[in-house]
Amino acid sequence: AGKSTVAARLAARLGVPHIDTGAMYRAVALLALRDGLSPSLDGGGEARISELMAAHCLDVEVGPDGTRVLVDGEEVSREIRSAECSLMASAVSALPAVRRALVPLQRRLGELHGGVMEGRDIGTVVLPTATLKVFLTASPDERARRRHRDLSGTGTDESLDAVREQQRRRDLQDTMRAESPLQVARGSVVVDTTGLELEEVVERLLAEVARVLESGA
Ligand code: DC
Repeated sequence: AGKSTVAARLAARLGVPHIDTGAMYRAVALLALRDGLSPSLDGGGEARISELMAAHCLDVEVGPDGTRVLVDGEEVSREIRSAECSLMASAVSALPAVRRALVPLQRRLGELHGGVMEGRDIGTVVLPTATLKVFLTASPDERARRRHRDLSGTGTDESLDAVREQQRRRDLQDTMRAESPLQVARGSVVVDTTGLELEEVVERLLAEVARVLESGA
């Protein structure tokens, strides 16, 4: 539901770091792609990815411009945004070994920097005692329209119907999967962004931040 843009904008407005946990799954995906693995991950993919994570140095730098990711000292923040890497990130993020390795790292980043941490399991698994937990959602039609618009910007010509169908399948997969399924964390504020402009969503969230701060959390 446009969470990356909203999280980045909210962090900028608050003057706090924006910690993008998806970038970390994408970095592991890049290691897997460079090793020649395919997103189907058949034939011992999980064991191989564990070896790769142990053999390489993954660094995350949290700064005012967002999250920078380095693999063995090489900045890969742009490379991890490719369509290929998105597909692979979705596959590696379903592996228990990968989540076991990344979640403690994310907790440490949260403790070190605080700020706006973005990801589907932050409120449920990574930081369940966070001061404010937000679950962004939007109607399936609106999400398909946004995704279709984003994809059009990259030169692909998938139809809106095709995008909507892929999204329906991914939603099902994400909510049904055994490892960290997509769930609304207990105590989170659910914000439906259907029909709202980016700045309207950010204003809503700033009001929530003000509310929890006033309550002395
Ligand atoms: O938000 P994103 O597209 O950059 O995330 C990349 C992939 O990682 C995506 O398939 C969702 C997954 N992910 C996850 O499982 N848990 C997180 N905390 C963040 C991302």
